[in-house]
Amino acid sequence: EKGTYPHYMLKEIDEQPLVMRKIVQQYQNEQGELTIDSAILDAMNEADRIYIIAAGTSYHAGLVGKQFIEKMAHIPVEVHVSSEFSYNMPLLSKNPLFVFISQSGETADSRGVLVHVKDLGYKALTITNVPGSTLSREADYTLLLHAGPEIAVASTKAYTAQMAVLSILAYVTAQSKGLMVGMDLVKELGIIANSMEVLCDDKEEMEAIAREYLSTTRNCFFIGRALDFYVGLEGALKLKEISYIQAEGFAGGELKHGTIALIEDGTPIIALATQEHVNLSIRGNVKEVVARGANPCIISMKGLETNEDRYVLPVVNDMLTPLISVIPLQLISYYAALHRDCDVDKPRNLAKSVTVE
Ligand code: M6R
Repeated sequence: EKGTYPHYMLKEIDEQPLVMRKIVQQYQNEQGELTIDSAILDAMNEADRIYIIAAGTSYHAGLVGKQFIEKMAHIPVEVHVSSEFSYNMPLLSKNPLFVFISQSGETADSRGVLVHVKDLGYKALTITNVPGSTLSREADYTLLLHAGPEIAVASTKAYTAQMAVLSILAYVTAQSKGLMVGMDLVKELGIIANSMEVLCDDKEEMEAIAREYLSTTRNCFFIGRALDFYVGLEGALKLKEISYIQAEGFAGGELKHGTIALIEDGTPIIALATQEHVNLSIRGNVKEVVARGANPCIISMKGLETNEDRYVLPVVNDMLTPLISVIPLQLISYYAALHRDCDVDKPRNLAKSVTVE
């Protein structure tokens, strides 16, 4: 039930802090330590390479998950769009582990790959929000998102839940290998939940940004580097699917290789700047587009901000920034869609789960 909320999407955005706390609880043992089923840990540790398979928003979560697993657990990861996997099948490693990410657990494109790799005799883990879903039943192992039902077509809380569960998977795998991760993930996810709350309480500001940048535009670009690039892809997808504004997510450094030709007077550019090691270069990219007339909306993180920034996020662990930087993008998309009288929860041409290939 959406209760007093005008739309499921807004309710689901607001639920994200709670979902974070629930996930931590669900994956904690009695001593308060994060744990994962030992069979899954064995499969992670036996794998010489992990293949993440997903579609849409879940694919975007997978891109972030790759960084978690490679940086924390030191296992190489490839991320593939499920509908392309069979046509552009990579040369597989000797002991691959397949990880399917799917909110619904019913996406036909992803299931097609699961059936194929099971036929080849490989092990599969599904990360899903729906216990008993097809992808969960047909895989060897399941990790649940514990996000509660997601009704709005635009995925919000499932995306942040997917990243949180992937971070736990990476962290616990690293611990099982005796690797030093250099953070206390329970504490960091607690900080994430609190920061999400702060952002969800700032809706007026997000609505103002949507009005200022997106009320009449035809298109919009999201740029970022490193993790911010992946969040930009998700921000663009969110904006496209509910507001019908043509949006593209781009790596900051890639714009000048062609796409910059699309920048005109007033074109909105939403730039994410949460990563210290690329802060200078993303700001250089913003200058390049501003020189061509773009209207920049820089969203940075406290400590990295300058006085040209439109919004400053609270500080969180710099590997986990996607979990909070996406929230303003979700809210901005929501308000952009509202301002344009779009059907937020049920955008045209889309269904909640895509059960055809
Ligand atoms: O249920 P799934 O996570 O497998 O769904 C994958 C995509 O269809 C889904 O994420 C889609 O991109 C969303 N509508 C995005 O908001």
